[in-house]
Amino acid sequence: MRLKVFALPGDGIGVEVTREALRVLRHVCNKWNHELELTGGLLGAIAIHQEGTPLPELTVRLAKQADATLMGAVGHPDFDNYPPHLRPEAGLLGLRKALGVYANLRPVKAYPSLLDSSPLKNHLVEGADMIIVRELTGGVYYGTPRGITGEGAEMRAVNTMTYTRPEIERVARVAFRLAQARRKKVTSVDKSNVLENSQLWRLVVTEIARDYPDVQLDHLLVDNCAMQLVLNPRRFDVLLTENLFGDILSDEGSVLAGSIGMLPSASIGDQLPSGAFAGLYEPVHGSAPDIAGKDIANPLAAIGSVAAMFEYTFGLKEEASNIEAAIQTVLASGKVTPDLRPSGPPASTTEVGEAVCAAIG
Ligand code: IPM
Ligand code: MN
Repeated sequence: MRLKVFALPGDGIGVEVTREALRVLRHVCNKWNHELELTGGLLGAIAIHQEGTPLPELTVRLAKQADATLMGAVGHPDFDNYPPHLRPEAGLLGLRKALGVYANLRPVKAYPSLLDSSPLKNHLVEGADMIIVRELTGGVYYGTPRGITGEGAEMRAVNTMTYTRPEIERVARVAFRLAQARRKKVTSVDKSNVLENSQLWRLVVTEIARDYPDVQLDHLLVDNCAMQLVLNPRRFDVLLTENLFGDILSDEGSVLAGSIGMLPSASIGDQLPSGAFAGLYEPVHGSAPDIAGKDIANPLAAIGSVAAMFEYTFGLKEEASNIEAAIQTVLASGKVTPDLRPSGPPASTTEVGEAVCAAIG
């Protein structure tokens, strides 16, 4: 198969983890005889520094031409005091919107060999296996009006949380279809005791559920959900929620996996006529400027995102499951980065990437 992949390492540790993800991508392409057409581009702070904008037009064009885009991370302390539309993060938000990837799939798994890496008690975490489906191109991240007006005591800031019925419907369908291939349970998370926006969310999700009678639907308020994630994580199969809630809950969920450096993600939109999904693949973690450039960042979230790319965009399940199995092998071997608190000496980013390739064979 011919795989057209566009890489956007971005900022901070994005550069190092993407390097290792691409090592694994090349390795898998060699082993299974796929022809890899790889291009690279600029996104985030590096794009602001070099091109004066977090999302250059060329980046959008190349991402649209590719089958799949692999993103590292965006964010840089240089821009901490900038307004949102001039920050590195605006590049990623613009790219998600431009690609129409409205469903962000964030699998959260407690790996047996990492139970001790989680600060939570083993008996609570053991066996947890869920996928968070986060709506990605709507809600308060994109709603207008927005902005800061006035001066001094008159200053006022506005953001708008907005969803339309079709925006909720399409992401809900992604969640129900995923649940059909899993334990057949969707938990929809909202704040419908306070927000009209959430009331519409709950109404539409409940309606869509009728098309999937084999899937059981329940609803949780987001504050309770935040608690249940650490009290009783095994109760979740597919967790469906809006953009901001999903951003927050997925960082919390990463504690179950032992480290945020473990969480891959796939951002997908509508299915193409071929059955594939044009996708944006991004580790859940950020650019972590404090540890950038030290070769200590965990590349497994980025490598897991390559596995997700094989699965969703290329429909190559064997390649995907081989990468996932290799990740498990490396975890069990104890050759892991410091975030996973290994009992022996920690491995470097590069060593982990090499170990995954070796485990694939
Ligand atoms: C994420 C990140 C992004 C988000 C930032 C970098 C804009 O936190 O992917 O979870 O908030 O969506
Ligand atoms: Mn986040």
